[in-house]
Amino acid sequence: MIELAVFGAGRIGQVHALNAAAHPSVRLKYIVDPVASEHRDHLAIQTHAVLCEPEVVFADPDVTGVIIASSTDTHAKLLLRAARAGKAVFCEKPVSLDFSTVVDVTSKVEKSGIACLLGFQRRYDPDFRLIRERIVSGQAGRLEHIVMHTRDPSPPPRVYVERSGGMFRDQAIHDFDMARYLLGEEIAIVYAAGNSLIDPEIKAAGDIDTAMITLTSVSGRFVQMINCRRAPFGYDQRLEALCSNEVLYVENRPQRGVMIADANGFHSSTPMSYFIERFADAYRAEMHAFVDMIDNGSKPLAGIRDGLEAQRLAEAAIVSMKTGSPVRISHDWHP
Ligand SMILES: NC(=O)c1ccc[n+]([C@@H]2O[C@H](COP(=O)([O-])OP(=O)(O)OC[C@H]3O[C@@H](n4cnc5c(N)ncnc54)[C@H](O)[C@@H]3O)[C@@H](O)[C@H]2O)c1
Repeated sequence: MIELAVFGAGRIGQVHALNAAAHPSVRLKYIVDPVASEHRDHLAIQTHAVLCEPEVVFADPDVTGVIIASSTDTHAKLLLRAARAGKAVFCEKPVSLDFSTVVDVTSKVEKSGIACLLGFQRRYDPDFRLIRERIVSGQAGRLEHIVMHTRDPSPPPRVYVERSGGMFRDQAIHDFDMARYLLGEEIAIVYAAGNSLIDPEIKAAGDIDTAMITLTSVSGRFVQMINCRRAPFGYDQRLEALCSNEVLYVENRPQRGVMIADANGFHSSTPMSYFIERFADAYRAEMHAFVDMIDNGSKPLAGIRDGLEAQRLAEAAIVSMKTGSPVRISHDWHP
């Protein structure tokens, strides 16, 4: 049995803890979360894990991997502690809100030699994977441009926005990652425009809720990202990839697979409500990949360097939005 620990018993920590505990080769031994809550205690009961302090996890030689699903401001320190203790890591995005910290931690984690999976779960989603497979196999032909829509169902509360690092680092980072993943090359130019059109509370917190971002890859191909904090019908998560042989679409997944037609028209259900439901398969597959990485040394679909590169794009988008100009970047660009 592989023994694991989870840091953070919040929204995403609960998903990962339950997936880890359900894995046939895993014993979820510990949960660490300093904030007492009913959901934390319930999670420990559900998963048969022991609530403990971080020191217990890092000192236990039987724990081979840790899942960092705690608040963003804890990731960098926990990654470094895991690297020192020689534990494999599954870390949620982003590594830190401070780009120089991301660069420093990435370099230290890589030097330590520990295996690290970064939580870009969209890479494990069956729909996004199929698109990538058709591009990589050559079946779809040459990818020329991508259009992505990411709209949350409703704006997050102001207190969340204030600690999130802003929409580019918090939400759009998944789209920056998907752009690099599907293009199979780095981005050379980032051009972003953003505004607060939906929620005055987001504006008061100094963030935006609506953005249009254009990326140009090193070889001159394009990505158009549309990011927003509201969609009146629910979670909007779509992608269109124009290739020379095929156009590939990821559509929203409906809650109900049945279309009802009557004299008033055709009625389909609303899409799955938010990321926990929409990406349930992807989170499960991601946990299986983490276990396989520990067990068999397999390479994860996203590692810590992918976290760094996606965040470089988020930082460039912030600079572009503030200056109103496109930002040219290279492998060592920083804000
Ligand atoms: N990949 C994804 O789809 C996805 C989705 C949601 C959140 N996230 C990321 O996951 C992280 C957590 O987000 P969330 O929405 O679950 O937040 P949350 O606020 O619901 O949960 C965070 C939990 O971490 C706990 N915590 C704080 N400090 C801690 C520490 N030192 N050690 C252990 N636990 C600690 C808090 O008490 C809280 O229970 C964030 O970095 C977020 O960006 C990723």
